[in-house]
Amino acid sequence: MASAPAPARGAWNSRVGFILAAAGSAIGLGNIWRFPYVVGENGGAAFVVIYLGFVFLIGAPVMIAELTLGRRTQRNPVGAFAAIAPGSLWQFVGLLGVITGVGILSFYGVVAGWTFGYFLKTLGGSFSHTMTAEQSAAVFTGFVSNWLVTCGLLLTFLLLTALIVWRGVSDGIELTSKILMPVLLVLLIILAARAVTLSGAGPGLRFYLAPDFSKITPQTFPTALGQAFFSLSLGMGAMITYGSYIGKRDHLVSAAGLVCLFDTLIALLAGLIIFPALFHAGLNPASGVGLVFQVLPPLFATLPAGQFFGAAFFLLLTIAALTSTISLLEVPVSYLIDEWKWSRHKAVAVTTLGTLLLGLPSALAFGAVGWLSQLPGAGIDFLTLMNIVFGNYSLSVGSLLLAVFVGYRWGVAAAAEEIEQAGARFGLRPVWAFLIRFLCPVAVAVIIIYIVFTGNYF
Ligand code: PFF
Repeated sequence: MASAPAPARGAWNSRVGFILAAAGSAIGLGNIWRFPYVVGENGGAAFVVIYLGFVFLIGAPVMIAELTLGRRTQRNPVGAFAAIAPGSLWQFVGLLGVITGVGILSFYGVVAGWTFGYFLKTLGGSFSHTMTAEQSAAVFTGFVSNWLVTCGLLLTFLLLTALIVWRGVSDGIELTSKILMPVLLVLLIILAARAVTLSGAGPGLRFYLAPDFSKITPQTFPTALGQAFFSLSLGMGAMITYGSYIGKRDHLVSAAGLVCLFDTLIALLAGLIIFPALFHAGLNPASGVGLVFQVLPPLFATLPAGQFFGAAFFLLLTIAALTSTISLLEVPVSYLIDEWKWSRHKAVAVTTLGTLLLGLPSALAFGAVGWLSQLPGAGIDFLTLMNIVFGNYSLSVGSLLLAVFVGYRWGVAAAAEEIEQAGARFGLRPVWAFLIRFLCPVAVAVIIIYIVFTGNYF
């Protein structure tokens, strides 16, 4: 197990527990809510191909780097940079991660709240009758424009997250992930089997699986890159924090590989459900953040016992979101515990309150408040803006700086030494060194520079 964890920080109970918890952080709304809608908005299969390239060539090496840095330093993101490069500006990269964690949690909590609301609605029978795509879209619009409901659900969800983080790392996070992730996988497989056998599934499958590279636009690359980091929980130190809890005898590289594989599998399965169902229902793939909430209820209505199946699905999705928000909250909390010497309880209470305040405009951005729903100048709603700024750009900048830090400042040799602890073999070391020193920084920097120069932010 981890050597001498600092006071107030836990350690994982087992290797499997660590992998499940890291997979629990990675697997969440990013796979099932965000992935399908960004694929839908960015032309389908061609986007998926680019996304997969980014996951394995850029995401996986960055994940290895984050976990290694966390295990070596046994610290939160800010402390981790400071431990390797004391007194330098590198700490601000960690601080960017802490801020990004709060930024993402604020809008993620809103969507997780919708998910929980849809669980209650489905259970209550709102979707038990056959419904058209238009009816389902109207239900969604009515639901998200009710400020009392969306704010109440945001509060509920943040409190749930806070409760688990309040109790500390291993009993809270590990137990939740261990039991429920496999159940979610089974439900997804059943749903995919139903969706691909719907009439009209063919065009949906083509859209999703047969790449048409003429659909690529300049916005495809930053979106796919941001989606890869978001989905894998990279670029803000969540994996540094989780890595600080992994044992010295555990093999970091295979753990990172498994997490990337699981995460990708779940996202691909989600697409296999959404696109056939979407084309079956005649909806537009570019429906934005409401996509899954509009597509899934009519799909459940076509299943035997669809009401209970649907309710089980939204409940599990809520739990998958919860295992991700736990890691989002754990980043600022472990920072406040380690660096400001706050108690865990105080850190959790203050961060949750701040996140709630920041989350309210996102909760009001779908009809409840006009200007938040259509921001002057930007032409998008507040939640989508937060999603792009924190979910795409902050994570991309954070990952770029992390790759430079590990590749050059800390150095691949020192990092590899940490990976090869306790006799672990690291056969891919030269490949990883190349990716983390050259490919990741160059590719991410080119994409960011391109965006800044063309001004194509959204
Ligand atoms: N990876 C999570 C998801 O796909 O839902 C979201 C997330 C969690 C992003 C933790 C970043 C993070 F640090």
